[in-house]
Amino acid sequence: MAALQEKKTCSQRMEEFQRYCWNPDTGQMLGRTPFRWVLISLYYVGFYVVMTGLFALSIYTLMWTLDPYTPDYQDQLKSPGVTLRPDVYGEKSLEIFYNVSDNKTWTDLTYTLHKFLEDYSPAVQEANKNCSSEKYYFQESFEAPNHTKFSCKFTADMLQNCSGLTDPNFGFEEGKPCFIIKMNRIVKFLPSNSTVPPKVDCTFLEDPKDTPPLEVAYYPLNATFSLHYFPYYGKKAQPQYRNPLVAAKFLNVPKNTEVTIVCRILAEHVTFDNPHDPYEGKVEFKLKIQK
Ligand SMILES: *[C@@H]1O[C@H](CO)[C@@H](O)[C@H](O)[C@H]1NC(C)=O
Ligand SMILES: *[C@@H]1O[C@H](CO)[C@@H](O)[C@H](O)[C@H]1NC(C)=O
Ligand SMILES: *[C@@H]1O[C@H](CO)[C@@H](O)[C@H](O)[C@H]1NC(C)=O
Ligand SMILES: *[C@@H]1O[C@H](CO)[C@@H](O)[C@H](O)[C@H]1NC(C)=O
Ligand SMILES: *[C@@H]1O[C@H](CO)[C@@H](O)[C@H](O)[C@H]1NC(C)=O
Ligand SMILES: *[C@@H]1O[C@H](CO)[C@@H](O)[C@H](O)[C@H]1NC(C)=O
Ligand SMILES: *[C@@H]1O[C@H](CO)[C@@H](O)[C@H](O)[C@H]1NC(C)=O
Repeated sequence: MAALQEKKTCSQRMEEFQRYCWNPDTGQMLGRTPFRWVLISLYYVGFYVVMTGLFALSIYTLMWTLDPYTPDYQDQLKSPGVTLRPDVYGEKSLEIFYNVSDNKTWTDLTYTLHKFLEDYSPAVQEANKNCSSEKYYFQESFEAPNHTKFSCKFTADMLQNCSGLTDPNFGFEEGKPCFIIKMNRIVKFLPSNSTVPPKVDCTFLEDPKDTPPLEVAYYPLNATFSLHYFPYYGKKAQPQYRNPLVAAKFLNVPKNTEVTIVCRILAEHVTFDNPHDPYEGKVEFKLKIQK
C-alpha cells in the first residue's frame, strides 16, 4: 500500500511512525501487543537457558573425561632432550672454559654442581624407594601416600667420584672435570622395549690432532639410567620423582686446546640425529682447560 502512494509528506511519515510505536486502535506496541511481547520474551529466556545448560553440560563431560594425572596433549616429543651440568652458555652453544691454576675460574662451576645435587640428598629423597631390579617399574594403581605413585631413589652418592662427597672440587682442579648428564622427563616414555637400559656415550666430536680418543670414567660405572626409573607418570602422580643421572669424568682432555665433546644417549627409542633439535638425545659442548 505504501508503494502505491506516490508521495508522502513529512508529517504523514511522522504520523505513521507514531502509529507503529503505539497503535491505540489495536493496542500494538512496535508491531506487537504487550501480551505477545511477554510471550516472545519468555521464549527467548527459555531458549538461552537451554543453550547455557547444553554448554555447561558439554564442558562438564569434557572435564569428566580429562585425567588430571596425564597431560592430554603431549607434542610430538618422542625422544627426550638431554641437559648438562654445569651449564654455561657461550654465544652459540654450551661453553665451559676454565683455568686449572686459577680457582676463581672454576668455583662457580663446582658450585653449580653442588647446588644441582642438593635435590639428590638422602634427606630430600627419604620418601622414595630403594629399587634394585633392572626392570621397568610399572604402577597401575596409586599405592603411595596421598594418592600418588612411588618413585625410586637416586642419591648423589651413586655418582661416587663425581658426587661432590669424596671430591668437593669434582676433579676440576686436576684437569679431569666431572659433568652431569640428565635426560628430560617424558610422561610414560619407555626408552626401549627390551631389557637394555639407556646408556651414555661421550666422545670428541672430532678427535683433536695428535691425541688419543677421549677417556671417560662414568658414574654409575655402567653409564646407564636404570630401567626402574621408567616410566615416569607425571608431576602429580610422582611428586618426589628425581631424574636419574649419569656423571662423566673426562680423564685426558688436552690442555690449552678447545675441544668439542658430544654425549649421546644410546637406547632403542632415543634418537640423536634430529637436525631441528640439537639437544634431542644428545648434548654437545665446548670445553677448554687452561693451565
Ligand atoms: C692460568 O692461571 C695462571 C695463574 O693465575 C696463570 O699464570 C696462567 O697464565 C693462566 N693460563 C692461561 C692460559 O690463561
Ligand atoms: C683458591 O686459591 C687461593 C690461592 O691459592 C686460596 O687461598 C683459596 O683458598 C682457594 N679457594 C678455593 C675455593 O679453593
Ligand atoms: C634404602 O637404602 C638405604 C641405604 O642403603 C637405607 O639406609 C634405607 O634404610 C633403605 N630404605 C628402605 C626403605 O629400604
Ligand atoms: C599427604 O598430604 C598431607 C596434606 O597435604 C601432608 O601433610 C602429608 O605430609 C602428605 N603425606 C605424604 C607422605 O606426602
Ligand atoms: C675414585 O677416585 C680415586 C682417587 O682418584 C681412585 O683411586 C678410584 O679408583 C676412583 N674410583 C672409581 C670407581 O673410579
Ligand atoms: C618394540 O616395540 C615396537 C612397538 O611397540 C615393536 O614394533 C617392536 O617389534 C618391539 N621390539 C622388540 C625388540 O620387542
Ligand atoms: C649397573 O650397575 C649397577 C651398580 O653399579 C648394577 O646394580 C646394575 O645391575 C648394572 N646394570 C647393568 C644393566 O649392568
